[in-house]
Amino acid sequence: MKNNIAVIILAAGKSTRMKSDTPKVLHNLCGRPMLGYVLDLVSSLKPKQVVAVLGFKQELVRRAIPKGVKISIQNKLLGTADAVKAGLTALKGFKGTVLVLYGDNPLLKKETLRKLLDYHIENNVDATLLTAQLKKPSGYGRIIRDKYFSICGIVEEKDADEVQKDIKEINTGIMVFKKESLSGNLKYIRADNRKKEYYLTDIIGILAKKKYLVDGFKVEDSQEALGINTRAELAKANSLMRERINEKLMQDGVTIIDPASTFINFGTRIGIDTVIYPFTVIERGVKIGKRCSVGPFAHLREGTELKDDVTAGNFIEMVRAKIGAKTFVKHFSYIGDSSIGACVNIGAGTVTANFDGLRKNNTVIKDRVCIGSDTIIVAPVKIGRDAVTGAGSVITKDIPDNTVVVGVPARILRKQGGKCG
Ligand code: UD1
Ligand code: CA
Repeated sequence: MKNNIAVIILAAGKSTRMKSDTPKVLHNLCGRPMLGYVLDLVSSLKPKQVVAVLGFKQELVRRAIPKGVKISIQNKLLGTADAVKAGLTALKGFKGTVLVLYGDNPLLKKETLRKLLDYHIENNVDATLLTAQLKKPSGYGRIIRDKYFSICGIVEEKDADEVQKDIKEINTGIMVFKKESLSGNLKYIRADNRKKEYYLTDIIGILAKKKYLVDGFKVEDSQEALGINTRAELAKANSLMRERINEKLMQDGVTIIDPASTFINFGTRIGIDTVIYPFTVIERGVKIGKRCSVGPFAHLREGTELKDDVTAGNFIEMVRAKIGAKTFVKHFSYIGDSSIGACVNIGAGTVTANFDGLRKNNTVIKDRVCIGSDTIIVAPVKIGRDAVTGAGSVITKDIPDNTVVVGVPARILRKQGGKCG
């Protein structure tokens, strides 16, 4: 019974207040569309069925929807009640609990949703709203309670009078229903409001009036309620999500010197005892081993992987770069499309020239190579193990193992085994 749940995710809206050509739910939060977090949340509940309601630029949003999630199209964006109606068409035959989530509500946590669902099911009510107490409730629907403190309606900010605007308890937009109580009463909703839309929120007043059981469940941490309608709210959500990511990494044994100036995206992996210095940006999917040192002012982009004990120091940019154990890239270098071995030293100011105007080319640097300061490596190129490049050299051809090269373009100076210098 507990998991006899269907979820409707509303994601058809137009992002009017974002002033964007991109659908709002595809705007990024720590390197990933905000809808992704909502979808993860839903899959953690293991519901029987999931429907995403799409509309504005649905062909784009569709790409972010995993298999197993049904798609329902809302042809005209007539409001959240109309969107739920579209969602219900995909749930014919389903009996049980319907959870409605908004795609612009990515900070919600699964523990909260689980508690809300348990509360709803245990109390056997018709509708339970997740509410929040906000110091500044502006922009949200306000919860209206009667003299017995029972919820009797929701009034949208635009339609609220001054007294109602003063109410600090808000509608997070997350609601749970007995399916038949929802589907049987949507038809009573009218678009008689300032926006001329069919508001899902009106169903609460309708149910309360008809003596259905309506209840509220308050979220403890009101930050989870943040709905993203504007760019400013997007920035706020980014910073909250970033805090969560940093917190988790620190709990898992990573030192972050200054979390406030460290920007680590969703889906990165960092080993224990690695130290991240300030003003560092680490993008989605980057992997960093144990005991590494990253930054200050490092930018590690997609496809970058550092093995254990690597230093990626000041003013380093790396993209699609695999760096072997105990390798040093310490001062202002660009390493792109590269595979670098273990115990390599990359001198200050080294650049892999990976783009020839048409395509990206690879650089391979084998173990124990020593790249002199200010070397330009014109890819595609391979530098053999234990090779050394002189300061300021420009590498245009493959270099055999144990070879010292110098100059522009680099020529072989001598054969040499071993260490830098
Ligand atoms: C909504 C609630 C408000 C609540 C707030 C919480 C309504 C009427 N109001 O307001 O009470 O405090 O969320 O964040 O529900 N959508 C569709 N089709 C539509 C319209 C919207 O799918 O026709 C989707 C949007 O993509 C979005 C979600 O529904 O994901 C909510 O719509 P939005 O316009 O953001 O509602 P709010 O004004 O924020
Ligand atoms: Ca919203």
